[in-house]
Amino acid sequence: MAGGSTLQSDERIPENEDAISAQAQEITEKVRATGDGLISVLEEIQLRYGYLPEKALRTVAETAGKSLVDVYGVATFYRSFSLEPRGKHLVCACVGTACHVRGAPMVVEEFERQLGIPRGETTADKEFTLETANCLGACALGPIVVIDGRYFSKVGKSRVRQLLDDALAGFGEIDVRKDPRVFPVEVSCPCCNHSLMDESAGIDGHPSIRVTVSFDRKHGSLRLSSLYGSYNILAEPDIPEGTVVGFFCPHCHATLSGFGECPTCRAPMVAMIVRGGGMVQVCSRRGCKNHMLDLV
Ligand code: FES
Repeated sequence: MAGGSTLQSDERIPENEDAISAQAQEITEKVRATGDGLISVLEEIQLRYGYLPEKALRTVAETAGKSLVDVYGVATFYRSFSLEPRGKHLVCACVGTACHVRGAPMVVEEFERQLGIPRGETTADKEFTLETANCLGACALGPIVVIDGRYFSKVGKSRVRQLLDDALAGFGEIDVRKDPRVFPVEVSCPCCNHSLMDESAGIDGHPSIRVTVSFDRKHGSLRLSSLYGSYNILAEPDIPEGTVVGFFCPHCHATLSGFGECPTCRAPMVAMIVRGGGMVQVCSRRGCKNHMLDLV
């Protein structure tokens, strides 16, 4: 980061091309044995190195029996893949039209100033890469910034420093991409059984769960991550920490009432039906991380 962080070596990157090739071959064989395709192979490799080294892509093509053109075609088609080394923390600021008119250019300039790099670059200490995108699918909540897979809505210049500090501190949360305790669920309303999944706005790379909320005489929309174990949300309007929120089905408007109180903070629990059988309950207090999953 600008301001004098020291250069650190990236432990994920092996020392030589032979090591890269051996690891890429191992990953390719392991992933393909599970029946997953090329995208999953490349995701694993990017998780390992933080980007897709050329040597790894060549090995993937050889091991998978695909042409190098095909492998590069996939690697360059998806924005989530990078052919260049990235920083440990990826900051992606939306500069699409809706975010632009809400001040996204000033937010991006503040990230550039704080990090000491222009967009598209990585800091010398390899901590941060700053990128921009044209729409991140949550236009009504802009300006949107995604850092390490976490969505932040209505970001202004004054939040930039805190967001960078929080990213360096790891957001105090688990890594939703790697932690086996984190897995996707599909849920529906316990009253009308209508699906609450929203494909149009993803969080953590999965469709979000959309409900309507009410608190302090305000009403709005809340999207929760559908990864059980992730606490990432997008709320409109912003919900202050500690607020107890009423949760409602956006289809039949029934209260999503759970059973009893949160064992930690005594707020009411919120219940949703899990597809395939069972129920998930989450605490209705903003910031409380209590949740329970009963599968049948
Ligand atoms: S324009 Fe920024 S999220 Fe759509």
